[in-house]
Amino acid sequence: MQTIEAIRGRRSIKRFTGRPITKSEIEALLDAAALAPNHRLTQPWRFYVLGPNARHAYGLALGERKARKLEDPVRGRELRDNVANEHRALPCMIAVSVVKSENPETAEEDYAAAMMAIENIALVAVDMGLGTHIKTGSVMSDPAARGAAGVAENERIVAIVNVGEPADVPLPKPREPASASTRWVG
Ligand SMILES: Cc1cc2nc3c(=O)[nH]c(=O)nc-3n(C[C@H](O)[C@H](O)[C@H](O)COP(=O)(O)O)c2cc1C
Repeated sequence: MQTIEAIRGRRSIKRFTGRPITKSEIEALLDAAALAPNHRLTQPWRFYVLGPNARHAYGLALGERKARKLEDPVRGRELRDNVANEHRALPCMIAVSVVKSENPETAEEDYAAAMMAIENIALVAVDMGLGTHIKTGSVMSDPAARGAAGVAENERIVAIVNVGEPADVPLPKPREPASASTRWVG
């Protein structure tokens, strides 16, 4: 597949088939991630491939946060458990973290590199007939979510990447052409 085809074909996939993702598929995705551009080759990314129990625990942490916004505790528990079960059922869930840096410039560059690593995962997944959904949010710094993924104290989770065989591929979302955001200077 041409790179541009993968770029054009990539979508955020919210529904996956039940087809399990193999260890070698995940390794291929992560090998591509580790080839991302990275200033000073700090290789700041860490990848946590969550098994069913870890996914459930991460989902419980997320569900608990959602449940707190509901007034009815019974509905809250239902919501929490549904979110946890949905996470357990995911074919593959990868938490991507970066090692924290005291240096603000390095911290920013390392975050950017980790996001480029994630884009590599997303594009190679398309080439392999798989789909991804990148997810972020304040849950990533919740101690329960961090504990579920098992991230080290000196790291922060920068995104969750769900991977699987797409059950359906959404139509592309309308976007402005690059020319609308481009100025040719000098
Ligand atoms: C850094 C980042 C964080 C994202 N976080 C979320 C998220 O928390 N929840 C979600 O549903 N989608 C999330 N997305 C997916 C975007 O919503 C999605 O890329 C956007 O709607 C465009 O759709 P497309 O990816 O299918 O082109 C995130 C994407 C990026 C790049």
